[in-house]
Amino acid sequence: MTSPLRIALIGAGNMGQQHYQHLKDLTEATLCAVADPGSQAASLAAEWGVGYFADHRQMLEHVKPDAVIIANPNTLHVGTALDCLAVGVPVLLEKPVGVHLSEVRELVAMSTATDVPVLVGHHRRHNPLIVRAHELLQSGALGRLTTVTALWQLRKPDGYFEIPWRREAGAGMLLTNLIHDLDLLRHLCGEVLQVQAITSNVVRGFANEDCAAVLLQFANGALGSLTGSDAVAAPWSWELGSGENPVYPRQVDQPCYLLAGTGGALSIPQLKRWHYAGADGGWHQALLPVQENFNADDALRLQLQHFVRVARREVEPLVSVADAARTLALIEAIREAAETGRACAPELIEG
Ligand SMILES: NC(=O)c1ccc[n+]([C@@H]2O[C@H](COP(=O)([O-])OP(=O)(O)OC[C@H]3O[C@@H](n4cnc5c(N)ncnc54)[C@H](O)[C@@H]3O)[C@@H](O)[C@H]2O)c1
Repeated sequence: MTSPLRIALIGAGNMGQQHYQHLKDLTEATLCAVADPGSQAASLAAEWGVGYFADHRQMLEHVKPDAVIIANPNTLHVGTALDCLAVGVPVLLEKPVGVHLSEVRELVAMSTATDVPVLVGHHRRHNPLIVRAHELLQSGALGRLTTVTALWQLRKPDGYFEIPWRREAGAGMLLTNLIHDLDLLRHLCGEVLQVQAITSNVVRGFANEDCAAVLLQFANGALGSLTGSDAVAAPWSWELGSGENPVYPRQVDQPCYLLAGTGGALSIPQLKRWHYAGADGGWHQALLPVQENFNADDALRLQLQHFVRVARREVEPLVSVADAARTLALIEAIREAAETGRACAPELIEG
């Protein structure tokens, strides 16, 4: 029998601890060390029965893990991942892949040059609900995809913003939250050719946006909109609709993505599909609803199990560095479009 993959955790905060909760229950992998300079990390490592290091480079040198999970602050992602690739250690890197496309390009080049696998933690793609939605779109169940309506509208409590970096430029909901929705839209609907956008901080007045309206033109010809705000008492978001994470009380009936094509429509996360009985159906005929099924499962655990196989070189990463860089490029295009008032195309990423 293959021995469990020895995984080290770099960054044992909120997200790192969530990864640990799944890792501890896997038979195919085991935690072997924690690296985190924070004040609580040493006691967590002791509680989990593994070695503790303040510095991840020392951990890499002394522990020689088979793989690492990087869940430290966004600005450290690229540098930390480069250190791991330099010693040949496969990485599960939390999203966003980096903060600027310029640094991420270096990571794309390094992961290609070293051939050490990196999986980026856009975990929603591992959710069986999204796997089924992707299958439906690929199978042509909606005909020609034509319009895409995406909503991310909820309210973060004021206390969320007591942590200073959350009020500072660059850390707003585009990079923190809408990056998930944009990644799923790319995954489900294809690449985006160009965007137009307006952002605003009119509610809270912080350096970050609290509201965004984005228009998207997809390469396949579909047109879309994404309307987001973290300052509204509203139920339309993946977080509240999907039930993926129980800390968000669920709004079972409320969609966050509405995809419409010439042959049908789909609401997500409900996975309710509509179509006409005949190919020539139109607005005077009954539009028939179908409830699509899927086997609900935990996306973070599925991502971790996939990562074990990625680290063992059994499968390619579902979300590569280059793939995640394309989502970051889309965020940068939205920022540029909002600043200039012009339509902007995401930068092309090779690889
Ligand atoms: N996939 C998701 O849905 C999701 C959700 C939340 C957060 N995240 C991502 O996870 C990452 C961490 O977010 P969080 O909410 O856990 O933040 P957090 O502040 O709770 O945790 C960050 C941890 O990193 C540690 N740290 C700081 N400097 C470090 C260093 N040099 N080396 C190692 N550790 C260091 C901190 O001490 C802290 O324990 C972020 O990149 C965030 O975008 C992803």
